[in-house]
Amino acid sequence: MAVVNVQDLQKIYELGTQRVMALGGVNLTIEPGEFVAVMGPSGSGKSTFMHIVGLLDEPTAGRYIFEDNDVSKLSADERADIRSRRLGFVFQSYNLLSRTSALENVELPMIYAGVPEADRKRIALEKMEIVGVGALRDNMPNQMSGGQQQRVAIARSLVNNPGLILADEPTGALDTKTSEDVMQLFTRLNAEHGITILLVTHEQDVAAYAKRIVSFRDGHIITDQLREKVAA
Ligand SMILES: Nc1ncnc2c1ncn2[C@@H]1O[C@H](COP(=O)(O)OP(=O)(O)O)[C@@H](O)[C@H]1O
Ligand SMILES: [Mg+2]
Repeated sequence: MAVVNVQDLQKIYELGTQRVMALGGVNLTIEPGEFVAVMGPSGSGKSTFMHIVGLLDEPTAGRYIFEDNDVSKLSADERADIRSRRLGFVFQSYNLLSRTSALENVELPMIYAGVPEADRKRIALEKMEIVGVGALRDNMPNQMSGGQQQRVAIARSLVNNPGLILADEPTGALDTKTSEDVMQLFTRLNAEHGITILLVTHEQDVAAYAKRIVSFRDGHIITDQLREKVAA
């Protein structure tokens, strides 16, 4: 079973009388265990694609099958349910709640998914240990560096054992060294824990950590390459 299967995916934004074709017929399959980077210039449709794959937005046309679920046949509640249980999100700006400890931030998706309180702290601490922020459990976001906050956000994305982690420019706010550390963390989560990752970046250095690089231009996929071939 593929994690993601999109067929002729289209997205048209209507702005008054203007129509913007953000996605013009995208086909892509992602299997479990893949680590895929989406690249492309600004305006090429990367974020639109990620929002649809993350069930945050709906396509204008085309099919999206997520883990055997035909998304177009689901109700809004069913989509929200899959989003909270089967998808993990990592953002450029971390999106941690301020005045809320690292541990409580990591626990949050489990509250939405209905995980019993007795299990939440144990699972949250387990994921925080995996990404190396166990010692920061009681820190507030403003008591952590950018790299530490992003690790906490990555721990948060893992707590429901999602089938797919979606990361939109996860290193966009980090310096070069910290970006490398975060990308090594994604690499380890993929290699050692089998986590399937789809990340967006406009930086070649960041994309080079992925096993597969898909390039968008003007709402279309123009190349789809395995890293070995990219490097050669
Ligand atoms: N909410 C929106 N309303 C109208 N146009 C949009 C909206 N979001 C994106 N677009 C347009 O769709 C195209 C693709 O945008 P986007 O997916 O954000 O690209 P990227 O993430 O690659 O920069 C662009 O032309 C952008 O202006
Ligand atoms: Mg974008």
